[in-house]
Amino acid sequence: MKHRLTWAALAAATAIVAPASAQTAPLLPLPAQMTPASGSITIANGAGIAAPAADQGAATAARLLADRVKVDRGLTLTPATTGPIRFVRDAAIAGDEAYRLTVTPRAITIAASGDRGLIWGAMTLAQLLSPDTAFGKPVRVAATTINDAPRFRWRGLMVDVTRSFQPIDTLYPVIDTMAAQKLNTLHMHLSDDQGWRVEIKRYPKLTEIGGFRVPPIAGGQPGPKVGGFYTQDELRKLVAYAAERGITIVPEIDMPGHAQAAVAAYPEEVGVLGDRPPVGHDWGVNPWLFSPSPRSMTFIKNVLDELIDIFPGQFIHVGGDEAIKDQWQRSPEVQAQMKALGLKTENQMQGWMISELGKHLASKGRRLIGWDEILEGDVPTSATVMSWRGEAGAVEAANKGHDVVMSPAPNLYLDNIQSTAGDEPPGRIGLQTLEMVYGYEPVRPGVTAEAAAHVLGAQGNAWSEYLATAKQKEHATFPRLSAIAEFTWSPRDKRDWKGFVERLQPQMLRYERQGIAAADAAFAVTYALDGSKGDVLRGKAPKLALTTQTGAGTIRYTTDGSQPTARSRAYAAPIAVKPGQTITAAAFASDGHALARPRAFDATRPALLRATGTADMVACPKGALGLRVPLVSGQSGDAPAYNVNIFDTCTQAQKMPLDVAQAFTVTVARLPRHYGLAHDYKALREHFAVTEHGELVMRTGGCDGTIAATFPLPDPDTAPNRFSFTGTFAKQPGDADVCLQFTSPLSDPFYTVDTLQLESAK
Ligand code: ACM
Repeated sequence: MKHRLTWAALAAATAIVAPASAQTAPLLPLPAQMTPASGSITIANGAGIAAPAADQGAATAARLLADRVKVDRGLTLTPATTGPIRFVRDAAIAGDEAYRLTVTPRAITIAASGDRGLIWGAMTLAQLLSPDTAFGKPVRVAATTINDAPRFRWRGLMVDVTRSFQPIDTLYPVIDTMAAQKLNTLHMHLSDDQGWRVEIKRYPKLTEIGGFRVPPIAGGQPGPKVGGFYTQDELRKLVAYAAERGITIVPEIDMPGHAQAAVAAYPEEVGVLGDRPPVGHDWGVNPWLFSPSPRSMTFIKNVLDELIDIFPGQFIHVGGDEAIKDQWQRSPEVQAQMKALGLKTENQMQGWMISELGKHLASKGRRLIGWDEILEGDVPTSATVMSWRGEAGAVEAANKGHDVVMSPAPNLYLDNIQSTAGDEPPGRIGLQTLEMVYGYEPVRPGVTAEAAAHVLGAQGNAWSEYLATAKQKEHATFPRLSAIAEFTWSPRDKRDWKGFVERLQPQMLRYERQGIAAADAAFAVTYALDGSKGDVLRGKAPKLALTTQTGAGTIRYTTDGSQPTARSRAYAAPIAVKPGQTITAAAFASDGHALARPRAFDATRPALLRATGTADMVACPKGALGLRVPLVSGQSGDAPAYNVNIFDTCTQAQKMPLDVAQAFTVTVARLPRHYGLAHDYKALREHFAVTEHGELVMRTGGCDGTIAATFPLPDPDTAPNRFSFTGTFAKQPGDADVCLQFTSPLSDPFYTVDTLQLESAK
């Protein structure tokens, strides 16, 4: 980590005083109320944390405080009978999650009536004690009184452990980091078309068969199976660990749609038409549904009973989303069942199914929650609605009396990219910056004052089709989850983006100390050139503007390719770019530590003559569904990613300097075509192929321009998944847009452009 060196070099080896005002104290989320007082207290290694005798909850909170401060600040605090830090019970503090934290020159006292209040008070104190530059050294904390309680009771994160299985060990740090920011709900998406992830003792094939799939390929031989599942014992341990930290785990079994893994395991018990599909490998919407038959309903209730036994929380999530009803429509048995029940539509059939499951859960003292499609089937208002398809449904549901949890796409879908930078890892190409997430308001216009109480809160959803590894999931989740923590905890009138950005800076260091791979996209320098790359080569010296999403810190840069430091030149105004330069920049905080990894604008000749798919090209037609995907599904790490438009394999390189250079090499990547488009298949655009495997057709002057070159594509079964073609464009008077269109059949893999590199003729 390069910026750690800068940090260490500039670190003052003395304690700092945590600022007294709420806006600048290093607290995230911001407390409901904070009143500064005079004086301060110094907490040093070995300071005692006292908890009332025989108070299990207080002892736990004391231990969590010590653990947190050890990691985030390097201080060793000791649970003891006396000490400067005290946990006390105060029955007058209303609400299980509320607490009061009082810092005086003599002591720090955390008071609450409930166990979770004590934990959240401990987490606030851990933040007041961390981090600063003096890791392991005493901390001086300014006197203050904090009276705090959450705005919403549901402050959450959904992890999709189905599309990309996530080893259980990797969930523990996520729970720690959630708790540190007072998030209290972890929703686990445990079943889907692509995998069944929870051991069900009565139906072992759910995991034996449903837990593993053959990954999609793009030509060549199928790879080995991938997948995995959690045993009930593993989940019980995770549940207990989370509960100890104030977090409830909500399990989800998705039904009646997203059921392909279950149908693959038990086609006769739960399937509709009796066929056995493979465990799914197409992202999107697939046709296999659970049957609503008595046999299938008994099966599902048995599964829910085992979930109830593992997960003690109030809510059980039964999915309900994206169940296209073609199988039910084509099944005489389902049609006969609908007739017998007096139901006219398949949506009503789904509503009946969800209502039956709701009754079953209620009989066991639990509550049903489902995605907003459950509203289409007239479910009773006892069902809680998790809103994801826009917000009209949530408004209607809350006004009707349903409890609702807001997790709308695209705002809170964390698989959307958070930056337009070329180094942003795979995801959906629907930009959701940190600021956009921070600005989300869970109580939507149209929700009546009375119904507002039905808005339980909100959560971010980390869908994992394109987030293959735990680290990629962390990158997508953090720090955007800090924004969610703030708008679900802090009072609405305290929302303050600028203050949040300040308070996020110490939080970024905590993430680092916690080993969480938080994205630095909000602090990273991005570049905008006032002109084209060709203008640089033509000696016109166009101006390069340097910005960051947050505007935090001072941007410093070099022009010789060296790494910027806190002493590099400060950026003041757009820079005239000369050919051969490499401008490298980062934003630095006032204490001199770099807020993000440096990013470079490469103005060397080869770079100015190059367009890359992720940074310089746009989909054609513009605005179509875009994804940034890895070369091989599930590929991890920093492997290259490619932008694709799944409805039209066509891309455009903008403003190529065809006056300067005409020879070119185009590098093409072949990717698996594995998308369940369901009824949207009609939107697919096919281009006419004139050779067996289709061609790459290149045009200058845009997609209606002149054909510049045509390259027949190789047989996908035998060719490598990356290859190049070379050619020469006709000389143009200046810049020209180059359209790159693939005419491969829709039955073949996808193609996309990695790079288009121009070269001067020898
Ligand atoms: C969903 O995104 N299908 C809930």
